[in-house]
Amino acid sequence: MKNRLLLLLLLFLCWGSTASAMEISGFKNLMRQLQQDFSTLQAALLSGDLNQAAQAADAIAHHQPPPLEERKWIMTRLGKQALKFKEWDQQVHQATKRLAEAAQAKDRKKAQELYQQALQGCFGCHHQFRKRLRQP
Ligand code: HEC
Repeated sequence: MKNRLLLLLLLFLCWGSTASAMEISGFKNLMRQLQQDFSTLQAALLSGDLNQAAQAADAIAHHQPPPLEERKWIMTRLGKQALKFKEWDQQVHQATKRLAEAAQAKDRKKAQELYQQALQGCFGCHHQFRKRLRQP
C-alpha cells in the first residue's frame, strides 16, 4: 500500500516536471509571426496604405492556432485563468477582424482606434501571463 502511494507520488512528480518542462516552440513561432504582421500593420497605418493594413490585420485575425499539445499544456498550466488568457486572445482577434473591415472601408480613424485595441490585447496578455508561461 505504502509502495503504491509512493509510486503514484513519483509518477505525479515526473508528470509534473515534464508538464512544466514543455518547450512551447510552436507557440513562440506564432508569436514571432504575429509580431511581424503587427509591425507591417503599424507601418501600413502610419504610411496610410489601407490595403496593406487590411491584409496584415486579416493575417493576424486568422492566424494558425498553435499546436494542440501546446495549447493543452498552456490551458492546464493556467487552470481557471485560462479563461482570461482566451479573452485576451479574443480581443486581438476581434479588434484585427474589425480593423481589416474598417481599412477596407477606408475608415482611417476607426482603423487606428482598433489598432490600439489590438495592441492592448497583446500587452494585456503578456503582462498577465508571459512570466508564468516562460520556461524556468
Ligand atoms: C493570449 C495571450 C497572448 C496574446 C494575445 C499575445 N501574446 Fe505574445 N506571448 C504570449 C506569451 C505567454 C509569450 C511568452 C512565451 C514564452 O516565452 O514561452 C509571448 C511572447 C511573445 C513574443 C516573444 C516570442 C519569443 O521569441 O520568445 C512576441 C514577439 C510576441 N509575444 C508578440 C505578440 C504580439 C505582436 C501580439 C499581438 C498581436 C501578441 N504577442 C499577443 C502570450 C500572448
